[in-house]
Amino acid sequence: MNAEDVIECRVLTGFHCLPFAQYTTPHTNRRCEHEAGMTMIGASIGGRPVGLAVFSCQNDSEKASLESIFVHPDARRRGVGRGLLQAVDSTLVERGVAGVTGTWYHDARSAAMVECLLADFGWSDPVPSSTVHRGGRRLLDHVVGNSRVTRLPAGFVFDSWADLSSDEIVQVLDLREVHEMGVGLHPDGETMLSVSSETTVVLRREGEIAGWMMHHELDRETLRYSSLWLRPDLAGRGLGISLAIESARRHLGLVERIPRLFFLVVEGNDAMHRFIARRLQPGIDRSSILMRSSKALIPASSDEK
Ligand SMILES: CC(C)(COP(=O)(O)OP(=O)(O)OC[C@H]1O[C@@H](n2cnc3c(N)ncnc32)[C@H](O)[C@@H]1OP(=O)(O)O)[C@@H](O)C(=O)NCCC(=O)NCCS
Repeated sequence: MNAEDVIECRVLTGFHCLPFAQYTTPHTNRRCEHEAGMTMIGASIGGRPVGLAVFSCQNDSEKASLESIFVHPDARRRGVGRGLLQAVDSTLVERGVAGVTGTWYHDARSAAMVECLLADFGWSDPVPSSTVHRGGRRLLDHVVGNSRVTRLPAGFVFDSWADLSSDEIVQVLDLREVHEMGVGLHPDGETMLSVSSETTVVLRREGEIAGWMMHHELDRETLRYSSLWLRPDLAGRGLGISLAIESARRHLGLVERIPRLFFLVVEGNDAMHRFIARRLQPGIDRSSILMRSSKALIPASSDEK
């Protein structure tokens, strides 16, 4: 084998990451720069960067997630993808991590290749984990146009995230201490993206914060409708849906500037899937199923036996 054919995979740090940044998204690059637990593994052939795998593993966590894997089209089918996965496995095993999970869209152009590569490398059969719905003006028009003007019960008002005082933001963060709330539903659960202060809506009851529809800015033109949360004792009164409609109404006012949105519904949230099929489907531009696969890693000690 010529030296030019040797595939070298290694963990990247500092400025060594730069030549490989082209092989993942700007968002993942930003996460690698700012978020603890992100690791880049670069693949080179004859010193030329040809591929990148990125995984995330929080301190002390037993589990890691493969955030992205990409090989330059000219270097494919030469074992680079397999080399990257091997390097991900051995790096994680060295760190004592027990398993790794990955997700991808069922309708991505690369879905079949990624599935074949992971299957070839011993990952589990893919299963749907959630659905990502995307839309824009048509969806917002549909939601706002088909909804009655919201009349909140006495004592309730909507407020803007932008109008919360710093003390109230601390109160919002403290709500997690009192109420059971999935990490993704809590404002603290997102460390990288800014809250869209113009469109995020807070519900107050007698002045107290009782719920929110929170949007985050994925980029200048795209909002992620991240979390709809309502105090559990207020459920079943249509207040959650009113929050969502009010936030859509505010987004519609800015749609020239921020034309896109997406939101995610986890597998198993049947009520939400039914609601979307009945009420939102005509406005949605595209829905993609996020597929998930995983692999258990063999600890280094038992490997040596
Ligand atoms: C998937 C990908 C990483 C594979 O990289 P690669 O270097 O070509 O993979 P390898 O040469 O190591 O192939 C390993 C195995 O994967 C499978 N595989 C790879 N490409 C495949 C393809 N196009 N079709 C079917 N199987 C494929 C095969 O089982 C292959 O083994 P084989 O060559 O012995 O048949 C690469 O095709 C790629 O980067 N695709 C785009 C991925 C993408 O868009 N990522 C961004 C979102 S995360």
